[in-house]
Amino acid sequence: HAKYRVAVIGSGNWGSVASRLIASNTAKLPSFYDEVRMWVFEEILPTGRKLSESINEQNENCKYLPGIKLGTNVIADPDLESAVKDANMLVFVTPHQFVEGICKKLVGKLTPGAEAISLIKGMEVKMEGPCMISKLIADTLGINCCVLMGANIANEIAVEEFSEATIGYRKDKEVANRWAKLFTTPYFLVSVAEDIEGVELCGTLKNIVAIAAGLVDGLDMGNNTKAAIMRIGLREMRAFSKLLFPSVRDNTFFESCGVADLITTCLGGRNRRVAEAFARNGGKRSFDELEAEMLRGQKLQGVSTAREVYEVLTYRGWQELFPLLSTVHEICIGQLPPTSIVEYSEHTPNFS
Ligand code: NAD
Ligand code: 13P
Repeated sequence: HAKYRVAVIGSGNWGSVASRLIASNTAKLPSFYDEVRMWVFEEILPTGRKLSESINEQNENCKYLPGIKLGTNVIADPDLESAVKDANMLVFVTPHQFVEGICKKLVGKLTPGAEAISLIKGMEVKMEGPCMISKLIADTLGINCCVLMGANIANEIAVEEFSEATIGYRKDKEVANRWAKLFTTPYFLVSVAEDIEGVELCGTLKNIVAIAAGLVDGLDMGNNTKAAIMRIGLREMRAFSKLLFPSVRDNTFFESCGVADLITTCLGGRNRRVAEAFARNGGKRSFDELEAEMLRGQKLQGVSTAREVYEVLTYRGWQELFPLLSTVHEICIGQLPPTSIVEYSEHTPNFS
């Protein structure tokens, strides 16, 4: 292959940081074109300026990643079709609720042979059952799609603090290694694992556990309680993943995408922070209201993922096996009070 051209679809907090990280590599590596196009969901800033224009003028995303230069080879583009033009490596990084609409707009617009990777933590529930986001992308666009997940709070990677990530792939290790090359820097170490469902489910499900951890914080409970909730959550994550996809491997839960992402998100993530506020308000202010007020345009994934997983659990009759995953949803919709997050002694499922 002559040369690879990368486009990033999404420009929120992680989208902007991922673009910066990738662009630092494409500028150096001869097998990639320097320029990285970043698709921007256009919005008008309070100053009356367009976000995409502001990004290109300041080389900075003043709304989702203020104070960080992206690299002059990152070019913001509000036109989806033009952003992906001639790109043969597509990085999907938007909140999961928007990806299906975006993919539909991209049908027939991609360069033949293009490869994709999803950095999106979430899932969709269809009539036929649950569908991971990488599969949604792959099926809608007829392309191969890997995933990259890990303990990756975007603001920390933006200032180049050391962290790790896991690329999940199906069969084609050469393609996975090419993605690893694009993302790896001295401060961002990427490994590959042939367990795409396991990697993606880790990233997706830990957002529900992070809500539970935030509730514990908001109830002013201590470290032991939070650790217990994380352990119960991790055990449910593994059991749920294996029930959905028997191919999922135990080892995946020991990679960055597994226990490490669970820890960082339960300590420092947005899901945790908003859930803490929810519990402090005694569940009287909704997650939607708190999200809008506290995150100013950034999006929570845990609340909708809890609902999506709950649909799967009720449909398959698995609810009793997953008290933590179920309880988080019931708290989010106001059916149970935040204190129910620690009521486990009555029902402890015994996973073999
Ligand atoms: P974000 O939450 O910071 O930003 C929200 C984005 O959604 C903005 O770019 C906004 O313009 C866009 N948007 C709003 N309405 C839209 C619409 N109707 N259609 C399309 N786009 C719309 O986004 P993020 O942090 O980049 O998160 C993207 C994914 O990355 C999520 O799945 C998240 O879980 C995952 N992730 C985030 C982090 C992090 O630290 N931020 C780390 C790892 C993974
Ligand atoms: P939050 O969306 O809860 O901030 O989690 C970010 C994340 O996925 C870190 O890896």
